Amino acid sequence: MELAWIDKAVEGIKSLPIKCAVAAISGGVDSTTAAVLVRRAIGDRLRAVFIDTGFMRLNEPAHVKELLRDVLPIEVIDARDRFYREMLGLSDAEEKRIRFREVFYEVLSGVAREYGCDWLVQGTIAPDWIETRGGIKTQHNVLEQIGIDTVSKYGFKLIEPLRELYKDQVRELAKALGVPSEIVNRQPFPGPGLSIRAVGELTLEKLDVVRGATEIVERRLGGMGLSQWFAAAWEYDVASSEDLSRIINGLGNFKAYVFKVRATGVKGDSRSYGNVVLVRGDPSNWGLIYDLYRYLGTARDVTHVVYELMGRGSGKYFVSIRAVLTEDFMTADVARIPQDTLMGIAQEILGSDERVAAVGYDVTPKPPATIEYE
Ligand code: XMP
Repeated sequence: MELAWIDKAVEGIKSLPIKCAVAAISGGVDSTTAAVLVRRAIGDRLRAVFIDTGFMRLNEPAHVKELLRDVLPIEVIDARDRFYREMLGLSDAEEKRIRFREVFYEVLSGVAREYGCDWLVQGTIAPDWIETRGGIKTQHNVLEQIGIDTVSKYGFKLIEPLRELYKDQVRELAKALGVPSEIVNRQPFPGPGLSIRAVGELTLEKLDVVRGATEIVERRLGGMGLSQWFAAAWEYDVASSEDLSRIINGLGNFKAYVFKVRATGVKGDSRSYGNVVLVRGDPSNWGLIYDLYRYLGTARDVTHVVYELMGRGSGKYFVSIRAVLTEDFMTADVARIPQDTLMGIAQEILGSDERVAAVGYDVTPKPPATIEYE
């Protein structure tokens, strides 16, 4: 990122009539970089907060605070009870996202009022508002671009210094601003966090299952050069499908099932909400699991195809491992992880949580799937 770009952005922010600004830090590169940039312009008039929504990874608030100790002082705000009260029991992906956004901004608005701040710094980047406006999903941090008047609704104006940038440009900028490399290279984590990775009805138990599986998947697939890697969980509730099984018959000794939950995908320029197919059985060679979506991805509103790695006779939940490679997060390829690695992860997840009945690997690129499930 050119220094001239930074100077211009800082001058632009300096020229705004800011009394004080709140920045909500998620621990990701976008929100952190936006805050560090604004801090350059207004110094201590920037108040950086980390809202603990209850949908974070294990120990995330303390970890982020520690990571940013030298660049950005952060205050952790515990809003877990509020989010749980408002969101537990919701099932629909968009309902969760919309409710999350409302609660998130109400909490932030309260913080801004308490501090007497009239501006909010956001790390919104170009794909966020392009996809929200295109109807692919309700990104939690997109407001003005879809016509929400933040001043009358929440009492603050928005500074979004990264709104025209893509992820790779943000990483460059972050480096130039001295953001710690662990943050620069951190994989994206959605604002609504584990609430949209506990797919279907949101319960504390499902959140707990996905939080445990997330720790294992992130640790075991870290350092492999992937763009994003995580776990999601939902009920292990499937119905066998003769039609779909017939389609993939020639590829191996496969059988197809359809989960009860639904998950998001992209079709053309818009978002779809469709079926998740589970494939069980032995491929005649391992590489064939990566071809499954080609056969199933267009059938019967299928958005995700997941290959079952390992299961056992008991347990309530299915855990899906997701690992993708992408430049811009608008499209993504499935990472071809070696069989042994995936089996090792499945074994660890099953061994660590009796509530998990089976573990699978999501073999669907974006499109037709989205990277997340909701
Ligand atoms: P999808 O699932 O739409 O995700 O293919 C594309 C990228 O966006 C991230 N993502 C979000 N990030 N707030 C965020 O800050 C959100 O509401 C949100 N939803 C998805 C996702 O993790 C992926 O990197």
